[in-house]
Amino acid sequence: MAERLGVCAKSSFLNPAIRVDSLVPGLEVAVARRMMQRAPTAGFDNHLLISRCCPSRRGQDTAHSLSYPVSCPMASLLCTVGRARPAILRLHAQNGTRNAPAALCRQYASAAAAAAVPDTSSEQAFFPDEPTAPIIQTPIPGPQSRKAIERLSRVFDTRSLNMMADYSRSYGNYIADLDGNVLLDVYAQIASIPVGYNNPALLLAATSPEMASAIINRPALGNFPQHDWADILETGILSVAPKGLGQVFTGQSGSDANELAYKAAFMWRRQQERGGAHVDFSAEDSASSMNNQSPGAPDLSILSFKSGFHGRLFGSLSTTRSKPIHKLDIPAFDWPQAPFPMLKYPLEEHAAENAREEQRCLDETERLIKEWHAPPVAVVVEPVQSEGGDNHASPAFFRGLRDLTKKNNVLFIVDEVQTGVGATGKFWAHEHWGLSTPPDMVTFSKKAQTAGYYFGNNDLRPNKPYRQFNTWMGDPARAILFRAIIQEIERLDLVRSTAATGDYLYNGLESLAVHFPQEIQNLRGQNQGTFIAFDSPRRDEVLKKAKAHGVNIGGSGEKAVRLRPMLIFQKHHADSLLERLEKVFQS
Ligand SMILES: Cc1ncc(COP(=O)(O)O)c(C=O)c1O
Repeated sequence: MAERLGVCAKSSFLNPAIRVDSLVPGLEVAVARRMMQRAPTAGFDNHLLISRCCPSRRGQDTAHSLSYPVSCPMASLLCTVGRARPAILRLHAQNGTRNAPAALCRQYASAAAAAAVPDTSSEQAFFPDEPTAPIIQTPIPGPQSRKAIERLSRVFDTRSLNMMADYSRSYGNYIADLDGNVLLDVYAQIASIPVGYNNPALLLAATSPEMASAIINRPALGNFPQHDWADILETGILSVAPKGLGQVFTGQSGSDANELAYKAAFMWRRQQERGGAHVDFSAEDSASSMNNQSPGAPDLSILSFKSGFHGRLFGSLSTTRSKPIHKLDIPAFDWPQAPFPMLKYPLEEHAAENAREEQRCLDETERLIKEWHAPPVAVVVEPVQSEGGDNHASPAFFRGLRDLTKKNNVLFIVDEVQTGVGATGKFWAHEHWGLSTPPDMVTFSKKAQTAGYYFGNNDLRPNKPYRQFNTWMGDPARAILFRAIIQEIERLDLVRSTAATGDYLYNGLESLAVHFPQEIQNLRGQNQGTFIAFDSPRRDEVLKKAKAHGVNIGGSGEKAVRLRPMLIFQKHHADSLLERLEKVFQS
């Protein structure tokens, strides 16, 4: 008789009619539910049940069931997921997707969105146990959060704090705080949560023996790579490599990824100038490098764009041009910045003007490449300027950039730290452009939960070891996590889902803009998945009010409301968001 094992995480904020069957297909729902009712709820918010039952006794006595209600939510969650692992894996293998309920209860739908878009009631939920709507119980921050913030402030700078979160109670698209508030999160840790808080598949990866070993035996990858590093890369990071870029250099963060790419670009150029990888450094190169002088430390540069953001470490900060607050008081390289197109919206009404603007920017870029006193070796660009205000440009602009970098022997680095991993409705945003040749390097981080740059050309490997090097050179634990994220994205077809949800959300916002033209200006991100933004003259107030209505939203630049939901954001979440935005605009 086949045994069935199931695991269910229950949080106090969740719908009491929790859909345990959806977390693990095949779980004996009635049994698990009865056990949850029995489990004492006082004193802990998440408890975990593991139900071991026989199909033939479904709905009968639960004598065969084992339950593990616990008082330390995450630790026990991990422990129990570990116990249930073989059965869960078996069940996942048997069922390609979770048995989500056939129909979702669409409690709210923005009138504007409903008028513009098709019905979503047949949509299958990726996280059916999520709250059906945000829960607001106190002003944010509430008393418990205020207490925790006060305590933290004594030892840690909290002046940038947005919200004190309780991740043990956060789930799927919903982020919880300490006061019982549960918000629909369309900011997602500055665009870096890919597949939902407490995603069960990631919990499995996080609790695997492989992960434990990677964490406690963290290798210095350049010197002592673990025996299966190639396997981890090939089945993870490299399995989603942009076309033509089959190698990777892994790093720690988005800024780090960009800096590593810049260093690779400089070494590539100097290698070319010396006559090839086989030509050794001159004595003058070596001596001058130790004095931070040319030619060893050459007067070369990286060209970036006005309003661009590429990070805050020393080198990357010199290419960041979004806001003075990021740069003030930090010495910087005298590197060129080209204008980034400032397009007018709606695009279809300003096509000719926008095309002229893009050509102007391309011409100026080329001029700077040719004339800047420290010649650029690479151009770095974001597919959508994100921190700098969600500025978009057309595929033709990026094709133009690729062409002029090729023509001028300058590398083309695409910074996909924020756009990468599905949010634009393609795995990599630059796939929207139809480039004739791939970028030279693509940098990534955020939703990948690891970081680095992809490249294809062997000449981008420096000619000697230890030139591109550091202690860790990445982290197998994070690479294993990214592999699990990729598997979850593929299992649930999340890139395609994000493209469809994005279209739905964009249409809803477009309709809302008709009713609130002052509130939604320059709507952008059409056909770009959920990577959508608009300008709001009272942006900061809108973000604050949105929180009071149960939605966590971020801003970018001076006045943009930027939407960065996770890849598990679906149409019913879009309805909820639109409905709440409508209320904010009415207030
Ligand atoms: C496009 C882009 N590049 C680089 C970075 C820097 O990444 P990190 O903050 O991980 O250093 C960011 C961060 O927001 C980003 O949006």
